[in-house]
Amino acid sequence: MPDTAELLRHVAERSIDYLDGVAERAVGRPIAADRLRAGLADGPLPAHGEDPRGVVDALIAGADPGLVASAGPRYFGFVVGGSLPAALAADWLTCAWDQNAFSYISSPAASVVEEIAGRWVREVLGLPAEASAGFTTGATTSNMVGLAAARHAVLARAGWDVEANGLIGAPPIRILAGDEVHASALQALRFVGLGSETVERIPVDGQGAIRADAAAEMLAGTSGPAIVLAQAGNVNTGAVDPLAPIIEAAHAVGAWVHVDGAFGLWAAASPTYRPLLAGLERANSWAMDCHKWLNVPYDCGFVAVADREAHYAATRMTAAYLVPAPESDLDPFDWIPEASRRGRATTVYAALRSLGRDGVAELVDRCCTLARRMADRLGAEEGIAILNEVMLNQVLVRFADDDERTRAVIADVQEDGTCWAGGTTWHGLAAMRISVSSWATTEADIDRSADAIIRCSQGLR
Ligand SMILES: Cc1ncc(COP(=O)(O)O)c(C=O)c1O
Repeated sequence: MPDTAELLRHVAERSIDYLDGVAERAVGRPIAADRLRAGLADGPLPAHGEDPRGVVDALIAGADPGLVASAGPRYFGFVVGGSLPAALAADWLTCAWDQNAFSYISSPAASVVEEIAGRWVREVLGLPAEASAGFTTGATTSNMVGLAAARHAVLARAGWDVEANGLIGAPPIRILAGDEVHASALQALRFVGLGSETVERIPVDGQGAIRADAAAEMLAGTSGPAIVLAQAGNVNTGAVDPLAPIIEAAHAVGAWVHVDGAFGLWAAASPTYRPLLAGLERANSWAMDCHKWLNVPYDCGFVAVADREAHYAATRMTAAYLVPAPESDLDPFDWIPEASRRGRATTVYAALRSLGRDGVAELVDRCCTLARRMADRLGAEEGIAILNEVMLNQVLVRFADDDERTRAVIADVQEDGTCWAGGTTWHGLAAMRISVSSWATTEADIDRSADAIIRCSQGLR
């Protein structure tokens, strides 16, 4: 029998060593997959098992060159948070406890932790207390759940039971979304059978936010089932759609408004940034991530729905052996498209309890301030342009007003390893994307990263 205690202490030590060094490793240098395959003993599964400690050590050694220091303070790719200490520790507990967090019966503790964490998320974001909620694997799944609830509600009003009858023969649904809708929301539309090419695109402003006048014009006169997909936090610019007028125009014609706020919804926790999301609480459903700006380990998303009945109708599952919880809301599987699942809300509970309301606001404010600092540092250099208004934590940078040069600088920055930033195309122009989303990033990290980016832009790496 393996000595479990010894193995876990060993892994804890090695994990701590990793985290102790994470700020000083090259952040995400490109590496050939074949090098990793070789280091990880790629080949047929060995006929016989190996000693667990040997396996773990081989995994650590083999994976190390391909690890990306996204848990460190200078990873600015995609929208990636690190892991707050309390959240990381809670995740270790989640693994050790190994609860099947699908129902109250299968884990009373996981259910109640999830209930409290869900309430705290609604509180800190100012979402309606009575909204139903669930923890998912991420915003893509949360979008899917919100859209499934929307589909239920708008079709039920048209006399169609979509859960029973599916979509074949159903009344048509108008789907409207901003021209800058995130790819994952389109994917979610495909998952719920509504299709992504059917979406009517609402024109956006220069930052990618829906134009309220265009939304109102397109919605006017709508009489049948309709869903509007709004966005809080454009993945390139951070722009937030004007939620209040969109919701007003949509509700005037009976349309459902789903808000994809994967990272941007967290801005609602900050008194400084909340005005950007004015009207948020009047939407019908909300999708977001905890593994982004709340800085809990992967994977963890959150969905809330104002119309509990619609939510429940879309996600419920019944079977004789599934004994209901003694109180409503204590069975997580009622609100998400999963049965067996990990107790991922434990990390959210720990993160929110360790931060408190003011800590969440401060985390949001700090990341936004640091994003502006980065924009100011880079924008002051000749030949470097900031393409967006830095309203949240996203910065778009272009070098020498040239696509090829911009892509070359991005590649150099990645190779340099001081920090990591990816690329995108914005309004037809190649750009570097910088997303400041980690609790661990400091002013010094921004300055050190800006220096490295400037060096690379001058060909001085
Ligand atoms: C606006 C928006 N929606 C959805 C997603 C997808 O989130 P996830 O990767 O957690 O599924 C993202 C990811 O960046 C996003 O920015």
